[in-house]
Amino acid sequence: MTMVKCEDLKKYFPIQRGAFKGKAGIVKAVDGVTLEIKKGETFGIVGESGCGKTTLGKLILGILKPDSGSITSATKDLQAIFQDPYNSLDPKMKIYDILSEGLVLKREAGDMRKRVEDLLDLVRLPEDSLKKYPHQFSGGERQRIAIGRAVLTHPEFIVCDEPVSSLDVTIQLQILKLLKTIQKKMSITYLFISHDLRVVKFMSDRIAVMKDGRIIEEGATQVVYAKPVHPYTKQLLSSVLAYGY
Ligand SMILES: Nc1ncnc2c1ncn2[C@@H]1O[C@H](COP(=O)(O)OP(=O)(O)O)[C@@H](O)[C@H]1O
Ligand SMILES: [Mg+2]
Repeated sequence: MTMVKCEDLKKYFPIQRGAFKGKAGIVKAVDGVTLEIKKGETFGIVGESGCGKTTLGKLILGILKPDSGSITSATKDLQAIFQDPYNSLDPKMKIYDILSEGLVLKREAGDMRKRVEDLLDLVRLPEDSLKKYPHQFSGGERQRIAIGRAVLTHPEFIVCDEPVSSLDVTIQLQILKLLKTIQKKMSITYLFISHDLRVVKFMSDRIAVMKDGRIIEEGATQVVYAKPVHPYTKQLLSSVLAYGY
């Protein structure tokens, strides 16, 4: 069963003054991407900064319109979790209001207090969090809030774009495990984007390696990591191995 399918997606941006990539005044952020994300799986996208991961995620979310190509999605219930929850959580709103807002927007206000409390429990934050503001939390706690808000209305599909990249390694693992637990409980499909090969390996059933707006290698995670075919994938993997992980 397919959740999302992209065919020959392209998104080019006009080149900025001083930029050096691309030809004829354009950056080929996404340059002919075809992929299929299956229901219930975590599909990982890995690649270096600037290779087009975020642009691809935004195209799939419908935040950006493609120049050409097509996207078909089995659901309209899409959500996103981004790298820096501080930017996406309104600093003037208490956590209760941030979380209940999503239910109000969806006209699902019935028994709101209980739903918000259950949600807090799901992301493992104490109940007194509801009275606090975003700045009163650590980065990891703020990401828990952002995750709670994303799953509030039981989406079928979530784009996670570098969700742990600004966190310490020990906190990263806690958040990744939380994402996995929630995925199981709520049967959510993830598109999981990261520049960090270890993080993508931990999370993903299948992965695609991106370079310069294209997918250069794709397959089951274990296979790609054990037997990379493309020289670029080998290079990426060996640079991680050099650290001794
Ligand atoms: N709105 C934009 N305007 C111009 N160039 C952009 C825009 N968004 C992204 N780019 C460029 O597109 C390329 C891919 O960016 P991005 O998708 O953010 O990569 P990644 O998430 O892999 O780091 C980069 O060269 C970036 O500078
Ligand atoms: Mg990005």
